[in-house]
Amino acid sequence: MGSASQFILFFVCLTPAIVCQVTGLVWNSDTGIMAHGKSVEVKNTSGNPLQYSTRREFPIDNKKYCYTLKTEERRRYIVRATFLYGSSETEEPYPKFQLFLDATKWSTVSVSDDSRVYVKEMIVRAPSYSIDVCLCCATTGFPFISTIELRPLNLSMYATDYEDDFYLKVAARVNFGALSKEDIRYPDDPYDRIWESDLAKRQNYLVGVAPGTERISTAKYVDTNTREYPPVKVMQTAVVGTMGRLSYRLNLEDFPANARAYAYFAEIQDLAENETRKFRMEQPYTDYSNAIVNIAENANGSYTLYEPSYMNVTLDFVLSFSFVETRDSSRGPLLNAIEISRYVEIAAKTDDKDVSTLNVIRSMSTESDWTDEQGDPCIPMPWEWVNCSDTVPPRITIIFLSGKNVKGEIPSELKNMEGLTELWLDGNFFTGPIPDLSNLVNLKIVHLENNKLTGPVPSYIGSLPSLKEIYVQNNSLSGEIPASLLTGKQIFRYEGNAHLRRGEKSKRHYKLVLGISVGLLAILFVLFMGSLLLLRYIRVKRSYHKFDDKGNSLRNSTKPSTHSSITRGGSLMDERVACYFSSTEIEEATDRFSRKIGKGSFGPVYYGKLKDGKEVAVKIMADSSSHGTRQFVTEVALLSRIHHRNLVPLIGYCEEEHQRMLVYEYMHNGTLRDHINGSDHEKHLDWLARLQIAEDAAKGLEYLHTGCNPTIIHRDVKTSNILLDNNMRAKVSDFGLSRQAEEDLTHISSVARGTVGYLDPEYYANQQLTEKSDVYSFGVVLLELISGRKPVSFEEYGTEWSIVHWARSLVRKGDVISIVDSTLLGTVKMESVWRIAEVAIQCVEQHGSSRPRMQEIILAIQDAIKIEKGTDKLSSAGSSKGQSSRKTLLTSFLDIESPDLSKDSLVPSAR
Ligand SMILES: *[C@@H]1O[C@H](CO)[C@@H](O)[C@H](O)[C@H]1NC(C)=O
Ligand SMILES: *[C@@H]1O[C@H](CO)[C@@H](O)[C@H](O)[C@H]1NC(C)=O
Ligand SMILES: *[C@@H]1O[C@H](CO)[C@@H](O)[C@H](O)[C@H]1NC(C)=O
Ligand SMILES: *[C@@H]1O[C@H](CO)[C@@H](O)[C@H](O)[C@H]1NC(C)=O
Ligand SMILES: *[C@@H]1O[C@H](CO)[C@@H](O)[C@H](O)[C@H]1NC(C)=O
Ligand SMILES: *[C@@H]1O[C@H](CO)[C@@H](O)[C@H](O)[C@H]1NC(C)=O
Ligand SMILES: *[C@@H]1O[C@H](CO)[C@@H](O)[C@H](O)[C@H]1NC(C)=O
Repeated sequence: MGSASQFILFFVCLTPAIVCQVTGLVWNSDTGIMAHGKSVEVKNTSGNPLQYSTRREFPIDNKKYCYTLKTEERRRYIVRATFLYGSSETEEPYPKFQLFLDATKWSTVSVSDDSRVYVKEMIVRAPSYSIDVCLCCATTGFPFISTIELRPLNLSMYATDYEDDFYLKVAARVNFGALSKEDIRYPDDPYDRIWESDLAKRQNYLVGVAPGTERISTAKYVDTNTREYPPVKVMQTAVVGTMGRLSYRLNLEDFPANARAYAYFAEIQDLAENETRKFRMEQPYTDYSNAIVNIAENANGSYTLYEPSYMNVTLDFVLSFSFVETRDSSRGPLLNAIEISRYVEIAAKTDDKDVSTLNVIRSMSTESDWTDEQGDPCIPMPWEWVNCSDTVPPRITIIFLSGKNVKGEIPSELKNMEGLTELWLDGNFFTGPIPDLSNLVNLKIVHLENNKLTGPVPSYIGSLPSLKEIYVQNNSLSGEIPASLLTGKQIFRYEGNAHLRRGEKSKRHYKLVLGISVGLLAILFVLFMGSLLLLRYIRVKRSYHKFDDKGNSLRNSTKPSTHSSITRGGSLMDERVACYFSSTEIEEATDRFSRKIGKGSFGPVYYGKLKDGKEVAVKIMADSSSHGTRQFVTEVALLSRIHHRNLVPLIGYCEEEHQRMLVYEYMHNGTLRDHINGSDHEKHLDWLARLQIAEDAAKGLEYLHTGCNPTIIHRDVKTSNILLDNNMRAKVSDFGLSRQAEEDLTHISSVARGTVGYLDPEYYANQQLTEKSDVYSFGVVLLELISGRKPVSFEEYGTEWSIVHWARSLVRKGDVISIVDSTLLGTVKMESVWRIAEVAIQCVEQHGSSRPRMQEIILAIQDAIKIEKGTDKLSSAGSSKGQSSRKTLLTSFLDIESPDLSKDSLVPSAR
């Protein structure tokens, strides 16, 4: 227990401290240090240790809840927070909220599996004597926490050149050749790092294992007195590539990013005199990857550790790494452990002077609701009684303490809060003089009325450059009022101060000035109002002219091609994008709706040609009753602002009586659906064309998700909503109507929309709409691109009926060939197909949180394009082995599997 006492541990429970049997660590209850939230019993801890039997749940409000952990300044620590939700009987959505470390965004905690312990770990060098772990900003459910741990590190462990500006967020710490599935931690690791077993079963965790990989272990002591002191037990096991190669692939959460990467090598096999073990890193491709690892040489013999590191590498979200033995080596590569941490930039905390002044003020009241707000005053959200600037660092701009029961003198430290614009201290029990505020040149509004202030009104106040109003009524101020306050430049109220007088001279002066300014003001006011009315009259008259009854007169006054801004209800004013068309114009353009070219989610689509020759697609909105006019116009305004080369542009709209129509640019090559499983064989697309289309469409969706404000979720991604232009470039259509992402995701919006076969099962089940629903549908589109098959079909897929189940089971077996469109076989590079199959299967994961973001999908598609194109070049150049630098991700894996592409040969050894 001796060494355990140096760990500061908290754990949420109502019973006194519990000793965890397994690790021998003492877990303390947080009841003494956290006054907020409530302890909730976790009924089913799914076999996790005792400290998970309760969790603390916080209210949903706009506050943050923080644990303040005492630290030693400049010492390095592991800060770890864990979250086990535990199954709940209620139907409520799982929590999703934010975790902050001081002012730095640490992580989004998003529970998708109630029996899983989510672990967030950060390595920090303590900036001062304490550090705050804060929970806030729930988008669904209640924020909660199960445990917090703070582990001091020793000496220079985890020191980096960047630690003044960056924390390290642990992304992977893997123990290779582990003897069991259990993590290794305290007491085997005195610093209680968690070394995950490479046998642990998690999704996308260590796949693509090279054949010939063997697990070895030793009972002999390994000397680990290096910089990072990894536990001996972790170094006593390893994997060895007996066929000359070691390779793995794993997902890194929150990547791509810059990272610190460590590899741990210890020779734990007894090599004969004439034997050597030398190898090189072959992946990821970086300039420094050619150095030869020779453990015995670097580590001064067997059973001692060699730990090379890359202090700043940029890694992808899928990390593929491989080591290959050199020609002159007699043994294959060996690996004991790896550790990868992402650099997280430290965000500036609120200015120190401001914080310490706020703390002085807090100590002057016993009211608890506002004095015990925690964490940084401004970030991630300001305390209720202050407001902040968005500068770096943030400064306090407003102190709002009207009637908060504060007693004592107004602290003189206020003079340091240079950002202050408003000071509301009225209705308290402040005594003593008004302090020196002459520094606060930004002050606009000062309220000190209804206190017990004494002494004079300082003369500098009248010359504060920005001051607009100062109230000091009902105090006990005395002396003469400074003349500068009586010029009328600012509002100054001072009744109820028995001993406060105005000097005789200034009084007359004041009256004179006041008289003149009132007179002037009155004249200005009359002039101003007059001009306002005039302007308004002109405007109203003009608009009546333009928008007479139902917009009928617009026909003549507006030419669509001029792109003038026309509106009903004002929503489109000044947008200068979407045009208004009258129904007559549209009838003419479409030749009385004579050529139907398709059916959108809302109704039929017709071909049309505008007077200026522009070809358009006119979409009729069938169920116009469900949209109010205002809503329709607002949505059109929003849509017309969205411009992206991979989104079908909205040209204009028509809204008359019960008819609503949208006018889009016409896309000459129809829908993607026609091309991949339509009957038309001439439209056959080769693989590269399909990849190009996938990339285009993905970029369009990514723009909707991240480039628009508010975020737009398409909700109906499918091949018939991906249109192709003259050059076979793809654009996404049919987005945006009544479908802006709702801020409050718990809100149950309309009935689930979408198309059978593409519908996200998670959204269907709980109606929680997120971007990841589009990702699911896009995954189905990718599977169609690979296979050329329909998304649902009893004939093709049997009782499973959906392409998702069918493809998933085959891909998991490693059999991609069986899902590839037969017209493509023989002409494609399988690595490229693999890359897409892999990402498609990730897209259709059951839980949204396991699916990639559009950005990651784009990267995968671009990878696949590179692989496909690279192959073309290689085969024409006649050499295929020499250019190994072309390889990405799955290539090394496929090499191992043998490049023989006959059916069923591509079975991965681990997945
Ligand atoms: C506890 O949870 C696990 C995993 O979710 C489940 O398999 C088990 O049946 C549950 N036990 C009880 C008693 O509910
Ligand atoms: C930390 O380093 C000191 C000095 O080298 C050593 O005495 C101490 O045992 C170390 N602590 C741990 C937990 O390793
Ligand atoms: C790492 O290298 C990149 C590129 O050279 C640089 O921009 C970055 O500041 C470096 N450090 C960190 C912590 O990312
Ligand atoms: C090393 O020497 C032994 C005998 O001393 C021999 O059997 C073995 O083949 C040698 N290995 C290599 C790699 O030379
Ligand atoms: C290797 O170990 C020997 C003794 O075991 C020691 O004298 C020597 O300095 C070490 N060399 C290095 C480079 O650490
Ligand atoms: C703080 O600023 C925000 C945005 O400027 C504003 O919406 C909010 O009302 C302000 N709060 C107070 C207490 O003045
Ligand atoms: C000053 O005190 C009087 C009497 O208590 C009260 O009526 C008045 O409203 C107060 N003035 C202000 C500005 O609150």
